[in-house]
Amino acid sequence: MAIVGAGPAGLLLAALLARHDIDAVIVEQRSAEYVLSRIRAGVLEQTTVDLLREAGVADRCLQEGLTHDGIELSFDGGLHRIDFRALTGKHVTVYGQTEVTHDLMRSRAGANLTTDYEAADVEIEGFDGEHPVVRYVRNGVVQELACDFIAGCDGYHGVCRASVPREAITTYEKVYPFGWLGVLADVPPVRPELIYANHERGFALCSQRSKARSRYYVQCSLDDQVDQWSDDAFWDELRRRLPAEIAEAVTTGPSIEKSIAPLRSFVAEPMRFGRLFLAGDAAHIVPPTGAKGLNLAATDVGYLARGLAEYYLEGSDAGLDEYSARCLSRVWKAERFSWWFTSLMHRLPEAGAFGFRLQQAELTYLVGSRSASSALAENYVGLPI
Ligand code: APR
Ligand code: PHB
Repeated sequence: MAIVGAGPAGLLLAALLARHDIDAVIVEQRSAEYVLSRIRAGVLEQTTVDLLREAGVADRCLQEGLTHDGIELSFDGGLHRIDFRALTGKHVTVYGQTEVTHDLMRSRAGANLTTDYEAADVEIEGFDGEHPVVRYVRNGVVQELACDFIAGCDGYHGVCRASVPREAITTYEKVYPFGWLGVLADVPPVRPELIYANHERGFALCSQRSKARSRYYVQCSLDDQVDQWSDDAFWDELRRRLPAEIAEAVTTGPSIEKSIAPLRSFVAEPMRFGRLFLAGDAAHIVPPTGAKGLNLAATDVGYLARGLAEYYLEGSDAGLDEYSARCLSRVWKAERFSWWFTSLMHRLPEAGAFGFRLQQAELTYLVGSRSASSALAENYVGLPI
């Protein structure tokens, strides 16, 4: 098995396969340090934690992860809790994606399994036939990896999806006319649970990594540059978008990371091309509002690992043949939820004042309706697999 990309999708796939003694080589274009330096979200569905446990890498997540039984929505100066536990019997775990990646890397290094970092000029071929090959240059030497299957876990900008003939793939995309300016700071979170804020100045999110480290976001223009935003300007804008008593309670401090991320919805169909399987961001992107990115990548590789185990251990193609349809059914539900939650919580330039009032009406209905709150809770904690 050749896996292209050592992000959470590639590393988790390799860890799940190792549990079945199915060997895999991971080929990653960047260094391990670079992969670990990327700041990403950190809300895990129970299905993702179960897959980490199945892969034997859940210990630190179970010890240090924070169990969250709900989220809070703020709009029109008020705060409203969505009680996941009461509405679904389930919870989510707040544990940074960087920590997940770290745990997977450490487990792989501990088992002396091969990850070729800093692989240049990665190419894939032969996946439409019987003999797929991954070719790349490492330390100036051309490497050629012959394998049975290739897992394209190389993200949105990777080589794997780009290597599929145009006529064999259909893509769907929506780019949102705003971004998220995010700040990471070693300050205690303002609330024990996440706050998603709808405000006429734009969306805001109060999230966290631990009881001493917080992650905050404000909706910003795509024309904005990070260096236009001083820490003070960020904290002031964040507080303007929160109910007064919450704004007063925000502990501010110097940012240890600050970046702007665009928002995109993207799906590629199908997710299998002969002996090439796409997983994670290589096949789909969701706007971060629903915290589905990492969780979708995890369930993709959960399905793929199961299909490969059936193939190698039971001689059955069933799981591999169903892989694409199974993933896409889940992907489109998460795309719909992420698009809906993004549209509800963000200031939509084209919607005007009427659109903003409609959002207020929908939010008022939602927090007052058990069935509407349940739908939000069900999708947020993760639909059954
Ligand atoms: N050759 C080898 N590796 C590559 C190539 C290439 N041509 N192109 C990209 N990569 C590597 C990247 O350097 C990265 O480490 O593939 C990896 C892809 O990792 P991610 O982008 O993290 O994607 P994925 O593992 O699918 O994780 C999805 O990441 O972006 C978040 O919200 C998203 O949480 C989701 C998760
Ligand atoms: C984060 O903690 O970075 C985070 C949490 C929830 C989201 C998006 C990002 O929906």
